[in-house]
Amino acid sequence: MAPHAHPSDLGTEHSAGHGGRGGRGRTAGPVVGIVGVGYMGIATGLAFAHRGRSVVAYDIDRGVRAALRKGRSPYREPGLAELLGRESRRDRFHIVDSLSELARRAECIFLCVSTPPGPGGRVDLRPIRSASRALGAALREVRGFRTVVVKSTVVPGTTDEVIAPILRRTSGRSARTLGVAVNPEFLSEGRMVRDATHPARIVLGASGARAARAVRRAYAGFSAPIVALSPTEAELVKHGSNAFLALKVSYANELSRWTERLGGDVDRVAEAVGADPRIGPEFLRAGPGFGGSCFDKDLRAFRRRAQELGLGSRIADAALGINDDQTRHAVELVQRAGGPLRGREVAVLGLAFKAGTDDVRESRAFPIVEALLAAGARVRVHDPSALANFRREWARRSPRQSARLRFVRTAEAAVTGADLAVLQTDWPEYLRWPSAWSRRMRRPRLVDLRRRVPAPVARRAGLEVFALGRGASGPTPAPRGRRRRA
Ligand SMILES: NC(=O)c1ccc[n+]([C@@H]2O[C@H](COP(=O)([O-])OP(=O)(O)OC[C@H]3O[C@@H](n4cnc5c(N)ncnc54)[C@H](O)[C@@H]3O)[C@@H](O)[C@H]2O)c1
Repeated sequence: MAPHAHPSDLGTEHSAGHGGRGGRGRTAGPVVGIVGVGYMGIATGLAFAHRGRSVVAYDIDRGVRAALRKGRSPYREPGLAELLGRESRRDRFHIVDSLSELARRAECIFLCVSTPPGPGGRVDLRPIRSASRALGAALREVRGFRTVVVKSTVVPGTTDEVIAPILRRTSGRSARTLGVAVNPEFLSEGRMVRDATHPARIVLGASGARAARAVRRAYAGFSAPIVALSPTEAELVKHGSNAFLALKVSYANELSRWTERLGGDVDRVAEAVGADPRIGPEFLRAGPGFGGSCFDKDLRAFRRRAQELGLGSRIADAALGINDDQTRHAVELVQRAGGPLRGREVAVLGLAFKAGTDDVRESRAFPIVEALLAAGARVRVHDPSALANFRREWARRSPRQSARLRFVRTAEAAVTGADLAVLQTDWPEYLRWPSAWSRRMRRPRLVDLRRRVPAPVARRAGLEVFALGRGASGPTPAPRGRRRRA
């Protein structure tokens, strides 16, 4: 856990806590501030609390603050509610109602606000600009050195060119009393608690030695190596990593077309490719295309920034292009499996962009459901965690298409009377596929976009499976007693 801070360190708050390691109130190191308590901000804040920091967090959204104050997480992720409960009980994670209070109490302040997609592929910097302005104004009122750390994802050059100047202007502080740093976050949703508490590396681009020291002390107790870079290099590492990972997904997706066309299983091929330590197995998973709040937005922003610099990014072009093709391909697979879709009942299982999260941002479920409706199908959708988020986002995106879409509360209700089911997110409950589900379908057919329903389970349930990335898009394996369809 956290080593003790040096008493000489500026503003270090030692609690008067007694008792053993990790006991109530026992904290060490600089007080950490979190501005923006979304998916990334909550995981980051709780990870610092877990490592012994006292954390104060502020979000502009009153509802988020109210939920957190009651100890309720606004986001669903494995381990998140438990960690929030534990760190709140230990008195290490506090919600505050103003940036003034946060600026007064916290010495190392992490900007974790949204950087949503904006027009022309650029990121919309309005939230982070406005948070920086408000934080700068709050910093005017407090004494002592402060470090502001940009943890939100921004394109290379943004901190030096945009955020640091705003902070300096609005706070009236020079480098003598205000340090600025970049510390990108690499967590993956669905496993964000583990990723945030156990990062593989901590990338730190600080504008000066004092800021670097403050961030290092905030990270005391984390076992990851700290990689010290310039702020712009740190921003480039984040975008470079995302582009590479997205390309790996797209690469596996491209391979999936080969195995479908020539016969074979993309997972077996990808596993053998990934066994080469120069490549590695992670993210070589073919599916309906990547979703989530980061890859698409960050790749577009990276490409846009590359264009502005006269560089261009063929990597971003390729990853994005293959991704669009793959989602179209997934829809074609559904159409091939289901025949003419007009009037057919189709169940889409899984709406989150991946299993383990309730996040639906850029989920492939949106284009897939839209395409099914456009082909005349009647669609029912289910997700054990993300149904409410999907419904809200759907109403915003496609209000006129809602009549033929039903939101159902159980997977069994979704498949009852369906001509075809589509597995979009590989939640564990779908992978067990009880025989009763097949019996309730008009015709027990599944398009498995993730290849995750095990063959023996499908066989036992008499389920005909069309798997993305397998065979010649034919049903694999042939269910007993059923004719193999071309
Ligand atoms: N979600 C991820 O998996 C992930 C991973 C790595 C990096 N990131 C990056 O982290 C940043 C945040 O992403 P997220 O997924 O947590 O977004 P999010 O939308 O879940 O959360 C952002 C939060 O910031 C708050 N906010 C906006 N403006 C604010 C302001 N002026 N003052 C205070 N709070 C404000 C919002 O109310 C919201 O709760 C983005 O830059 C994203 O690219 C996200």
